Amino acid sequence: MLVLADFPWENAADWTGELRRQATMHQIYVPAEIPDRASIDAAVVWKVPVGFFDGMTNLRAIIVPGAGVDQLTGSDAPFPDVPILRLADPIMATRMAEYILSVVLDHHRQLGRYRDQQHRMVWARHFHRDPADIRISILGMGVLGKKVAEYLRMIGYQVAGWSRTPKTLPGIDVVTGEPALLSLAERSDVLVCLLPLTPATRGLLDQRLFDQLPEDALLINAARGAHLVVPDLLSALDRGKPAAAVLDVFDQEPLPSESPLWCHPAVTVTPHIASLSNPITGVQQIVRALDKIDAGEPLEHVVDRRRGY
Ligand code: NAP
Ligand code: GLV
Repeated sequence: MLVLADFPWENAADWTGELRRQATMHQIYVPAEIPDRASIDAAVVWKVPVGFFDGMTNLRAIIVPGAGVDQLTGSDAPFPDVPILRLADPIMATRMAEYILSVVLDHHRQLGRYRDQQHRMVWARHFHRDPADIRISILGMGVLGKKVAEYLRMIGYQVAGWSRTPKTLPGIDVVTGEPALLSLAERSDVLVCLLPLTPATRGLLDQRLFDQLPEDALLINAARGAHLVVPDLLSALDRGKPAAAVLDVFDQEPLPSESPLWCHPAVTVTPHIASLSNPITGVQQIVRALDKIDAGEPLEHVVDRRRGY
């Protein structure tokens, strides 16, 4: 097959090289090299400008080299009948679990407070709670959320989840529906967002939800920036509900220099690094998908466009 590959990342050359190395049965082109747009069978793209797919009249699949697909599923999405496939890479889930666990432990064991004390040469010890007394809720119990829950449970935290459809997971209370979300927030010392961005989840992290949180709660958003209503967070932080936020994703990335989030004392900003796509394992999944498309076999990890994820 003829495959168009466009990786808009710092390590794009690694991705293209790895794809060419592994996809021996297919011809891989980058956008500048496309011979004839109508001959492209599949596109491997993260985010595309308007008109990117123009003329690709024989496109059979769009493969996203990441987990989130909101950038390609809007109402103006091209080719409504062409399947969109996502990565469901266990390594990405593990990387996300490491990120969330490191943020939770840093907060729980008050390392920020000790860093601050060190700058002032203060020797003062503070008590911390047992993990079994800390309630952590994960919004989104998919590929990433389930792995995060497993890591947190391993340490002994109390873990609950929220998903669209019911789930039975050992030791984890998973609830569904909006009333359950609000009561879950009431018992969340840490609230972690790992939802896909869809019309139903956009702006979900808002004042109404923050009002339910206990004093001193921590918010972690590692999903998409548009889940969060930033002005609501800023006023909620003033009231201490949540008391702190760790944000890895932003509506506009890179985060603009004028954003108040950069310098807010209760906000930690990381530059969308919670779980980077892995070129080796990611390309393995992409090649597996290309082979299945080529062979006309049933595809895996196909996005449901109506749900948006
Ligand atoms: P996933 O496997 O599709 O799981 C999504 C979860 O969210 C599912 O449990 C789903 O419920 C739930 N959900 C969706 N809509 C919902 C709604 N309206 N109400 C309640 N629950 C809802 O996704 P994933 O692979 O875990 O990835 C999640 C997101 O993380 C991605 O979409 C992406 O935006 C983000 N991400 C961020 C990074 C980073 O580095 N910061 C890296 C990778 C991904 P059901 O189980 O019932 O379907
Ligand atoms: C990263 O944010 C992803 O969706 O894979």
